[in-house]
Amino acid sequence: MLQGKTVVLGVSGGIAVYKAVELLRLLIKVQAEVHVVMTKNACEFVTPLTFQTLSHNPVHTDLFDLYQEQEIGHISLAERADLFLVAPATANLIGKLANGLADDLLSTSLMATKAPVLLCPAMNTNMYESPGYLRNQQQLVADGYRLLEPISGDLACGWQGKGKLPDPQQIFETACKLLVPGDLVGVRLLVTAGPTREEIDPVRYLSNHSSGKMGYAIARSAATRGAEVTLISGPVALNEPAGVTTLQVGSALEMQLAVDERYAESDVVIKAAAVADYRPLQKAQQKIKKSSAEFCLQLKRNPDLLAELGKRKKKQILIGFAAETENLLENATAKMQKKNLDMIVANDVTAEGAGFGSETNLVNLLFADGRQEALPLLSKAEVAERLLDRVVELLDKGKL
Ligand code: CTP
Repeated sequence: MLQGKTVVLGVSGGIAVYKAVELLRLLIKVQAEVHVVMTKNACEFVTPLTFQTLSHNPVHTDLFDLYQEQEIGHISLAERADLFLVAPATANLIGKLANGLADDLLSTSLMATKAPVLLCPAMNTNMYESPGYLRNQQQLVADGYRLLEPISGDLACGWQGKGKLPDPQQIFETACKLLVPGDLVGVRLLVTAGPTREEIDPVRYLSNHSSGKMGYAIARSAATRGAEVTLISGPVALNEPAGVTTLQVGSALEMQLAVDERYAESDVVIKAAAVADYRPLQKAQQKIKKSSAEFCLQLKRNPDLLAELGKRKKKQILIGFAAETENLLENATAKMQKKNLDMIVANDVTAEGAGFGSETNLVNLLFADGRQEALPLLSKAEVAERLLDRVVELLDKGKL
C-alpha cells in the first residue's frame, strides 16, 4: 500500500516509545521505506538496534555522525520524507518546534523538512494541560502541522487522564491518510465560521459566543484531505489555517455577499457560522449617549443565508449546523427540511464539552434521507474528520 513512500519516523523520549516499535512494524508491513531518527532520551527506553532491525535501515541518533556520512545528512533525510511522523512527541519536542528551536538531529530535521508532519504527543496529564504546552500545540496547528491528540486512560506515571499515545493502528491509519492522495482532491469546499457582528454605533455591536473553532477545524481538515477550501470567517481570535483561502467578514450581510459570490462554483458548502438573526434597524453615526433609564433598540431580521442557498441549490452538497438548547433532534430535523439541506450537524450547546468556545464537541449528524448518527464526545478536529468522511460518501453517491 505504501510502496515507494518514504516515512521518517521521529521518536522522542517517553515511556510510549515501545508503541513506536509496533508502529514501525505496521509501516514496514505495507512496504513503506522507513528511516528512524531517535533522540538521546528515546534511546534510554528502547535501543536503536530494535528500530534498526525492523526498519532494515540504520537508525539516526546523532546530528554530527550524520554530517560525516556522505550520502545522507539531516537535510537529505528531511528532503526524502513523504511524511515525517513523530511518535511519541514529548512536550519538549513540541515546545522546540513551536518556537523554531533546533538543537539535535530530530528537531533539526523537522525544521528542515517540507513534507507533511504528523505529531503524536504523549505525556503526563498535567503537562498536557499546562498553559505552556497548550500554547505551543496551538501554534503548531496554526503553522500547518498535523497533530493526533493523545487519548485518555491510565498513564505510566500512575495518573489517570489525557496524555496517552493513541494505539499504533490509529497512528498508522492517520499516517496512511496523509500519504495516499486525499479523498477530497478536486472538491471545492466553502466553509463559514465564527459569529457575525451587527454594529449598533461606532463603538458597539451585537454578536454571540461562537469561537469559530469548529468551522476552522473543518477548513483545516478539508484542506489536508486535498479539497480546495475557502473559509469565510466572522471575527474570531484564531490564526488563519494553512493552505486555505480565508476571507474575513463582519456582519451577516457581508458574509452573505462573500458566500453568494462563491456559491455557484462550490461543490460543498458547510455553514458552521453562527449568523446573527437580527441587526439594528439603523446604525447610529455617532456613539449613542446614555440619556434615559431604558433604551430600546429596534432590530431588523437578517436574511437566512443558508435558507437562501437551499432555495438556489443545484449540484451542491449543503450542510448546516443547528445550535439548540432544547428538543435537539426535532428542531435540527425541521431546520434541515426547511432549509433544503443534505445534512445538518445537531449541536446541543448546553451539553458538557459541547458548543461555543469548547475544544470538544458532542454532535448528531442528521441526513436528508432520515439517517442519524450520534458521535461521541470528540475534539473539534475529530468531529471535522467524521463530518468530512460523510461528505465523501455523499460525493461518492453521485450527489455531485
Ligand atoms: N444561518 C444562516 N443565516 C442566518 C441564521 C442561521 O445561514 N441568518 C445558518 C447557520 O450558519 C447554521 C444554520 O443556519 O448553519 C442554523 O443556524 P441556527 O442559529 O441554529 O438556527 P436558525 O436558523 O437561526 O434558527 P433559530 O435561531 O430560530 O434556532
